[in-house]
Amino acid sequence: MAGNFAVSAPGKIILFGEHSVVHAKPAIAAAVGLRTYLLVSPPEKPGWITLEFPDIKLNKSWPVDKLPFVAKSGKIPDELDEAVVGKINDLLADVENTFQHAAALAFLYLYVSICDEKTEAKSYTAHSLLPVGAGLGSSASISVCVASALLKVSNSFVRDPIEEINAWSFIGEKCIHGNPSGIDNAVATRGGAVYYKKPDVLRPITNFPPLQLVLTNTRVPRRTSELVAGVKELKERIPSVMEPILDAMGSLADEADKTLSSLGGDPVALSAKLAELARINHGLLVSIGVSHPTLEKVKSTSDTLGLGQTKLTGAGGGGCAVTIVTATDDSEATVHEKIERFRAQMPEFEVFETLLGAKGAGFAEVDASISSAKFASFIASDYDRFAWKYW
Ligand code: MEV
Repeated sequence: MAGNFAVSAPGKIILFGEHSVVHAKPAIAAAVGLRTYLLVSPPEKPGWITLEFPDIKLNKSWPVDKLPFVAKSGKIPDELDEAVVGKINDLLADVENTFQHAAALAFLYLYVSICDEKTEAKSYTAHSLLPVGAGLGSSASISVCVASALLKVSNSFVRDPIEEINAWSFIGEKCIHGNPSGIDNAVATRGGAVYYKKPDVLRPITNFPPLQLVLTNTRVPRRTSELVAGVKELKERIPSVMEPILDAMGSLADEADKTLSSLGGDPVALSAKLAELARINHGLLVSIGVSHPTLEKVKSTSDTLGLGQTKLTGAGGGGCAVTIVTATDDSEATVHEKIERFRAQMPEFEVFETLLGAKGAGFAEVDASISSAKFASFIASDYDRFAWKYW
């Protein structure tokens, strides 16, 4: 593609199976309407690539002839090459902020792996409408945007763009999180809702029902890699207790999967059953130490108001909680009023309603008159005006 273009990918929520999915148990996740967008435009300086990500105050450029390009083998790796990580870390010695460092490492690792010296130098400008570090898959949506933009710029798509974007974005996720399960990048690539079990079970859940969900961002920042490492350490230390808990979390995902196919047409029965499973899943997540007092506040507020059942979503330790609204046999006005009371009782948190099953990775041509600064200031309705096509 000769002119400027943008790519975009959604965030996700995990409905069942966070953490246990890292230990090869099944999980269910779905794409949300909030997305990350990445503009590819001419370079600021010839022969230099730039990564600009104003949301995390990152703006760095590198000369292409100083990048440690990897010899291409025709295969997409499933592990990081630590020697390459080391060389990129040398280029990032002055980037101290952890979010900035993780984003720049993922970008450069994918750049030297997918592109080569001959790839036209470009500027890459990211803007995420997802809260960063909140459990909504912002890092996976960034990895998917970077992987798809670089595959496109370097004409590297070979056979199956979805497979290739997914596999490369998993490598980007590894740069950011260390030991990701792969569920976040799978959902950000494909969109919709998926049943996933590492390493290779990935089944789209078609006709995902329009569940009424409330997402609450506690605004407590946390690092997925640290929470995942804590669960691993607990499993190694007390395997006789941890293994049945992780198995039970996997069984909850299986039970939810059966429920979705048997009760999909009955919204009241479906939300009641899924809410019950969510309550159990949250209890198990509390027991393995990944909740947080703010998440417990969200849970007790929704319990007190009778709004529905709340579980943490994503890695926990802060971040977001999801409430499956079960007050669906109340009138719409009563549900609305309950949500407003829920919001009013926790003014320190961000509360929003969301629908699941958004589209996956997409791209669109962008008029050259749209500067990177303008692109990075857009809101969702501005991006919606582009003519998106989805892989
Ligand atoms: C993060 O969104 C979910 C975790 O299960 C980690 C992962 O699956 O990579 C905690």
